[in-house]
Amino acid sequence: MLGIIGGTGLAEPNQFGWGGLERQQRVETPFGNDHNDKVTVEYWRVDSKELLFLPRHGFKHSTPPHRINYRANIWALKNLGVTKIIAVNAVGGITSTLKPGSFVVPDQLIDYTSDREMTFFDGLTSSVSHIDFSKPYTESLRALIIKAAGDVASRNGSKESIVDHGCYACTQGPRLETAAEIKRLAADGCNIVGMTGMPEASLAREVELEYACLAFVVNLAAGVGSLPIKLAEVFDKADSCRAFIAETLEVCISKLHF
Ligand code: HPA
Repeated sequence: MLGIIGGTGLAEPNQFGWGGLERQQRVETPFGNDHNDKVTVEYWRVDSKELLFLPRHGFKHSTPPHRINYRANIWALKNLGVTKIIAVNAVGGITSTLKPGSFVVPDQLIDYTSDREMTFFDGLTSSVSHIDFSKPYTESLRALIIKAAGDVASRNGSKESIVDHGCYACTQGPRLETAAEIKRLAADGCNIVGMTGMPEASLAREVELEYACLAFVVNLAAGVGSLPIKLAEVFDKADSCRAFIAETLEVCISKLHF
């Protein structure tokens, strides 16, 4: 089964114009005892296929990036039978050609987060293990998203820029970065910056789930543009990207066989 993890601006598939909500389910997980230890997912039927939707910030977009219970989210998807995850992430554009409204399917990432529960292999509840993470995203799933986004853009005659590779910098947040931090990320080879890509991607790998990311640029990263970053503009941009994301996901779903 496919699992879709939605982020900023994508807390509810209702907003995608999909009509196939089947039910919500609350899942108990072994991770923590705060309100985030339980995860609510939605079962949707799209193109006559059942899929699971999980809003990583919660259905009310109430959990900030550093407080998301990433282990609970991935554990829930795995235990409900998901085998492939498409993660949708709002990001800032570091490379100046990645303007708001651009789409990127990253092939690499650098993790700058700290203090997050980031492994199932903590030696306490499981044995010691080290995953191979040289390629953090599943190539076949990346290819599916890239092809789907390209098809949607040409079908609509739209001029979305779709970039088929890039390095995602995951910062701790919740504050945005300084201009100097963004310069350093650029020097490190990062093209886009967000706060939620990790440890989601590595946890998915730890439990052998296929995982890829569709990132959409909602602002120029700090110091790349001359203006301060306004949250209202970030949300407006997320709103205006939603239809394209929904269509791209629908094409991905239509090509998957479960
Ligand atoms: N920085 C970090 N995370 C983000 C940004 C940004 O500029 N935009 C959207 N998520």
